[in-house]
Amino acid sequence: MKGMEGVEIAEKEDVDIILWNINLPDISMINSKPGHLKPSTRFSYATHLVCTNCGKGYSIDEINTYCLDCQAPLFTVYDLKSLRQDIQREDFTRRKWGMWRWHELLPVHLPENAITLGEGDAPLLQLPNLGEELGLSNLYVKDESANPTGSFKARGISAAISKAKELGIDKVIIPTAGNAGGAMAAYAARAKLKAHIVMPKDTPVANIEESRMAGAEVVLIDGTISEAAAMAGVKARAEGWFDLSTFKEPYRVEGKKIMGYELAEAFGWSLPDVIIYPTGGGTGLVGMWKAFAELEELGWLSNTKRPRMVSVQAEGCAPVVKAFEAHATFCDFWINAHTLASGLRVPKSFADHIILQDIYDSEGIAVSVSDESISAAQRQLGKAEGIFAAPEGAATLASLISLLQQGWVRPDERIVLFNTGSGLKYIHNLAGSEANPAPAN
Ligand SMILES: Cc1ncc(COP(=O)(O)O)c(C=O)c1O
Ligand SMILES: [Zn+2]
Repeated sequence: MKGMEGVEIAEKEDVDIILWNINLPDISMINSKPGHLKPSTRFSYATHLVCTNCGKGYSIDEINTYCLDCQAPLFTVYDLKSLRQDIQREDFTRRKWGMWRWHELLPVHLPENAITLGEGDAPLLQLPNLGEELGLSNLYVKDESANPTGSFKARGISAAISKAKELGIDKVIIPTAGNAGGAMAAYAARAKLKAHIVMPKDTPVANIEESRMAGAEVVLIDGTISEAAAMAGVKARAEGWFDLSTFKEPYRVEGKKIMGYELAEAFGWSLPDVIIYPTGGGTGLVGMWKAFAELEELGWLSNTKRPRMVSVQAEGCAPVVKAFEAHATFCDFWINAHTLASGLRVPKSFADHIILQDIYDSEGIAVSVSDESISAAQRQLGKAEGIFAAPEGAATLASLISLLQQGWVRPDERIVLFNTGSGLKYIHNLAGSEANPAPAN
C-alpha cells in the first residue's frame, strides 16, 4: 500500500509498518506546509538539563558538559505536558521527512541553528529472505547506513553541532573510533565551526580521509578511543575547544533518541519486541530508551510494552557483557581492546551505568560475538538481502543467531536489527581477503 508522499506502508496484523521513504528532509519546510500542521509556537520544548545521577539541574542556554559533582551524563528535559497539549503525534508524521521534523523534541531553540545534511528517517526494512532462513516471521533492519556520512553518527552529531552553534561555540574537538569523527567533520564544515579530531591510528582509512576532506584537523594516536578521549580532554581545556566526547556533551544522545521515535511511529505507535543494537559508547541504546520513556509520558503509545534491549559487543572488547554477566552496575575498563568492528572498540563508556540500567530495566541481555561470526553475518546479510552492513551492524545478526539457538527470542517476535553504518567504509577488511574471494572467471 502507498502511504503519504512516497512512503510505503505495509499492513501487518493490527499495525501499520512504514518500511521505506525516499524524501529528503528540508528544514525550511518545517512548520510551513499549509493545512498540514497546527503551528507550534515553540521550535523546541526543551527546558533544562538534569544530572542522570543526582538530579541537579543545569541551564540549557549555557555551555554545559556533564555533572561535575558526580561525573555523570546530563539529560535534556522537555516540557512534555505542554507539548502533549499543543501537538499531536500525527502532526509529526505529516511533516517533511528527516530527523528535524521532531524539532520540538530536540534541544535547539532557533530553527536557523539546526544544521542538517539530510539525516534521519533511515529505512526500516523487512528481511524476508533472512527471516525465512532463520525461521523468523517478523525480522527487520533499521538501515542507518542511509544517513549522511554513511552512519547513524550523523544524527547525534547533527544535534550536537547545532546546539554548539546555538551556544556560540566556534571550535570543537572529538575523540572517535571513526564514524563520529567523519560525521563531526561534515557537520562542523556546514556550520562553519573549526573541527579537531583525535583517532586511533588504526581507524578505518575511510574515516580518516572523510574527516580531512571536510577540512578537519586529524590527529592519529597510538591507542584506543579511551586514550584519544584523554588527549581530547587535555586539548579542550588547554585551547578552550568544546569537547564533543560521547555523553560528556549532553546533546548527541538527543539526536540518536529520534531512532526510537521513528520506530514507534513505524510500528503504528507500539514498539517492537526486541531491539538488537551494537554498543560502543551506548548513545543509541540509551537514546532510544529515553525516547520510549518520553513517548510514554506523551501518551503517544497505543501499547506501552517496551522492547527487550540487546547490547551486542565484540569478544575482543566486551565491557558491558562482562558487567552484565556479573550483574554489576558499572563496567571495568577493558584492557587490550581489539576487534575489526572499530566502532565497538570502546574499553569503557562514560555512560556505562545507564547502559546497564537500561538493559536490566528492559529485561534485555548483553552478548558478545567473535570477529569471525561478524564477518560471516556480514556476508549472510549481503547475500540474503543485498545489504552491505558495517561490521558493527552485522554483529547484531551474529548475536541474533546465537540468541535463537539459546531460545532467547521467539520465532514470531518483532525483532529489529540496527545496521548502524555502511560496509563500504570497511572495505579494507575485505579487499582480496580469503573470506571474500574474487569470483573465478
Ligand atoms: C558503525 C558503528 N556502529 C556502532 C557504534 C557504536 O555506537 P555507540 O557509541 O552509540 O554505542 C559505532 C561507534 O563508533 C559505529 O561507528
Ligand atoms: Zn550529579
